[in-house]
Amino acid sequence: MNTLQALRQRFNTTLSAELAKLEHIPPALHDAITYSCIGGGKRLRPILAYLVAESLGCSFDKLDLPVCALELIHIYALVHDDLPCMDDAPLRHGKASSHSAYNEATAVLVGDGLQALAFTWLSQAPGLDAETRLALIATLSTASGPSGMVGGQYLDLHPPAHIDRNFLQNLHDLKTGRLIRAAAHFGLIVSGCKDKATYTTVQNYATYFGLAYQAQDDLLDSTSKTETLGKPAGQDIHKHTTSTMMSLTETKQHINDLWKLAQAELDLLGNSAKKLLEFTGQIKQRDY
Ligand code: IPE
Ligand code: IPE
Ligand code: MG
Ligand code: MG
Ligand code: MG
Repeated sequence: MNTLQALRQRFNTTLSAELAKLEHIPPALHDAITYSCIGGGKRLRPILAYLVAESLGCSFDKLDLPVCALELIHIYALVHDDLPCMDDAPLRHGKASSHSAYNEATAVLVGDGLQALAFTWLSQAPGLDAETRLALIATLSTASGPSGMVGGQYLDLHPPAHIDRNFLQNLHDLKTGRLIRAAAHFGLIVSGCKDKATYTTVQNYATYFGLAYQAQDDLLDSTSKTETLGKPAGQDIHKHTTSTMMSLTETKQHINDLWKLAQAELDLLGNSAKKLLEFTGQIKQRDY
């Protein structure tokens, strides 16, 4: 098993155990929460946080619960993103999306519940002092809130009549980039990094990563198949995406340029970022 598979497995084992421990939840809601959280997902954000921490010499155990919280926010965003009032997607991770498997009200409440639970877990994360927990809470709430992911989702659903590439880039940064940057920030916070240059380099890396990631997601929507994606292909047909603004060749070049910028930031970190570089290469090559 390579490092990335091992980290994904570590994460999946922790998340399953934490969800199984939850008490005083109506059993059908607990079931819907577990269904939405387990059995799919690249676990990109947790792995990114682990690898940033590792590159700074921090052990993984301090991040185990914080990265579960981070992923709960991502899953809540996906559950709500799939709702009929948003992207109306019947499929996620190769199975029925939450509202399709249960019902809309349950899916709304799953998302609401996951969001609150994420902050409960951060407030209780073992091995961290109160100041570190607070920094994680501030980072994740800001990244996911109305000036972050939620704001981006709003703009995605209510774009102005005339949009340009800058609008789209800002939209990508908000709806996707902020949470990816928060993941990198988690690694920095938990490892206690105080070096300004390292902070800036890691944040720049994560910013380019987020932009490349969403542009590639848009491209895959128009070039890949539902069976490969595990979510409906062609979902963005009526939306403004990178692919509707640029030719296919231009889109691929744009994505490649963003990945190169991300990788160039990692080069500044030297040998300690070797695994992050390998991870970035794998995500760049992804087909789902
Ligand atoms: C999907 O995110 C939504 C975007 C931000 C592009 P991921 O591609 O990280 O979703 P999973 O968790 O791996 O399915
Ligand atoms: C959603 O972007 C980003 C989120 C904040 C959830 P998309 O709508 O493109 O994500 P997919 O393609 O459904 O995964
Ligand atoms: Mg969407
Ligand atoms: Mg969607
Ligand atoms: Mg998409």
